Amino acid sequence: MTKSNSDLSESTPKSPSDHRPRPSRPIDTGIRTKIAGTGSYLPEKLLTNVDLEKMVETNDQWIRERTGIEQRHLAADHQVTSDLALVASQRALEMAGMTAQDLDAILFCTVSGDQIMPASACVLQTKLGAKHVMAFDLSAACSGFVYGVSVADSLIRTRMFKTVLVVGAEVLHRFVNYKDRETCILFGDGAGAAVLTAADVNEDSRIYSAHLRADGSLGDLFVLPAGGSAMPFTHQVLDDGLGYVRMKGREIFKNAVRTMSDVCQEALDINGMSIDQIDWLIPHQANLRIIEAVGKHFGIPAEKVVINVQRTGNTSAATVPIAFDEAVRDGRIRRGQHVLLTAFGAGLTSGSVLLKF
Ligand code: UT7
Repeated sequence: MTKSNSDLSESTPKSPSDHRPRPSRPIDTGIRTKIAGTGSYLPEKLLTNVDLEKMVETNDQWIRERTGIEQRHLAADHQVTSDLALVASQRALEMAGMTAQDLDAILFCTVSGDQIMPASACVLQTKLGAKHVMAFDLSAACSGFVYGVSVADSLIRTRMFKTVLVVGAEVLHRFVNYKDRETCILFGDGAGAAVLTAADVNEDSRIYSAHLRADGSLGDLFVLPAGGSAMPFTHQVLDDGLGYVRMKGREIFKNAVRTMSDVCQEALDINGMSIDQIDWLIPHQANLRIIEAVGKHFGIPAEKVVINVQRTGNTSAATVPIAFDEAVRDGRIRRGQHVLLTAFGAGLTSGSVLLKF
């Protein structure tokens, strides 16, 4: 349907300060998307705070008090990001009672893929043995999985595809400078996945809405400078440590609490729900203090927040699907419950997805 002039003028920003995305509910196409299965994988190798004490000037007490993190999982030398994604995807397919042949598309959310080209999604496609699928990487850093679920939901509700695999997987430790104590204590490796499919008419599971944002003007708060067209690798670039992530942690912290609280509130407002109707909040696992501040700001009881950052550290696009899968498998999250996913990350990106599991 073409938009009338009045529709267009309504959606045209009136001033630079009016550039915020307009909250909206998805168009009802009669199709509802459900999460048919979840899966996750954490590599065996552990990096504890005590290990880090021997590598950089830090200590267990500081890391626990400032971040809540006690350990992270690291990929073995022979493992690449798509290997982690493969196990998580197979587990999600198994829970969904499906095989790779049931998939129509693969969305691989990552900022630490196997290589720049080809997409890790295509590598995963081959490893899974999924024939005739669309496969692409989605780069929204730690918000990747939340962005991916939203894109998959749109593809399903518009009948382009029936079943979509969304994977968040990272091997970030290979992009971390273990001489930089402000970043190296935070990150770990891991993968989480979800199989999204069109629900049957008699099923109640659904994705209600997604609320995604980006603010590129704050892009310099968290960067991986080298390796792109702006700064190709040279010996000098590598010697200067520009192949590792750089972060302004304090500014990101403040922004994270504000944006995740905002997008969660937006999800409630748009769907006419109150906080009491949310059974589980699954926030991006970057720092326990950020998670607690969002919970407090948003007004949700601590026992309804899924937290595993102590054991995993920040696995970027993988944190939300790993936490989701763990809570489904240990019986906390049950069918029919309302789950709110939220994340923020480099970009800066942020988002929330409200669903009935
Ligand atoms: O997915 C998005 C990725 N990024 C994030 O989520 C990062 C969000 N930010 C954070 O999690 C926190 O800001 C950090 C954990 C990075 C830092 O915690 P903070 O409470 O904001 O500490 P700070 O930066 O204000 O630093 C306090 C002090 C400083 O010393 P001085 O200047 O007060 O003497 C730092 O040099 O702590 C020092 N410090 C450390 N000390 C021991 C910074 N890192 C460490 C460390 N061990 N690892």
